[in-house]
Amino acid sequence: MELKNVNLLMNEKNVLRSINLHWRQGESIALIGANGAGKSSLLKVLSTLVKPSSGNIKYPVGISIRQWKESLGIVFPETFLYDGLTGYENLQFYQKLYGKVDKDGIAQVLEQVELSQVQHELVSSYSKGMKQRLSIARALVHYPTYFLLDEPFDGLDLASKKILEDLLQQMHKKGMSYVLVSHDTEHAWKLCDRALLMHKGSIVLEEKCTREGYLRFSNLYNTLFKENQHDIS
Ligand SMILES: Nc1ncnc2c1ncn2[C@@H]1O[C@H](COP(=O)(O)OP(=O)(O)OP(=O)(O)O)[C@@H](O)[C@H]1O
Ligand SMILES: [Mg+2]
Repeated sequence: MELKNVNLLMNEKNVLRSINLHWRQGESIALIGANGAGKSSLLKVLSTLVKPSSGNIKYPVGISIRQWKESLGIVFPETFLYDGLTGYENLQFYQKLYGKVDKDGIAQVLEQVELSQVQHELVSSYSKGMKQRLSIARALVHYPTYFLLDEPFDGLDLASKKILEDLLQQMHKKGMSYVLVSHDTEHAWKLCDRALLMHKGSIVLEEKCTREGYLRFSNLYNTLFKENQHDIS
């Protein structure tokens, strides 16, 4: 998937400016930046939920927009879960949406996110962390190859964080690809191949997730972050 010179204007605000991004299959990318930098907006463009105002989107060779959408697993801050259904029923519902029926697949993802024990309880009785883990299971249940994860660790306690970290590491080893939005550089470095720093709608730095890359990246992030706080105060 490739974005070329993508711009997004919303209510006369330049939310994304001249974004160039090449996301290769098997690659995991961290998207880092302060509040309002444009990270979620960029994810929405990648998901096709939002159409850019200008620029070019190239899908992987031989893949139509429809196939692209089907190959995506999306974890956004909105969990897209039904409170009145059980965990299991939610996953069954989403599988059907993608034209799939696979009970074993549901059992497997429930195990991966460690929710097998409560699968027949209503989602309304789940804790925030359990709902978040179920929303990750929901994103996995149709066997996507590309994932978009918008701050999936937000609101998770240490145990739930560890479950998700292990899951992402396994997925990465299997050659799945994800874009992970995060505020935590150190954390992203453990889970990604490459990191992009966003600032005021632009990608201002791109580094491989190596030790040297980390220093350059966190230095600029800290500098821009201080600038941002200055702007706000
Ligand atoms: N529908 C909209 N109309 C106008 N401006 C918008 C709209 N959606 C987002 N924006 C603006 O676009 C900018 C980028 O927002 P976005 O949500 O992409 O940032 P973010 O990097 O994900 O921030 P956060 O870390 O707070 O989630 C913000 O300044 C926001 O106010
Ligand atoms: Mg956001």
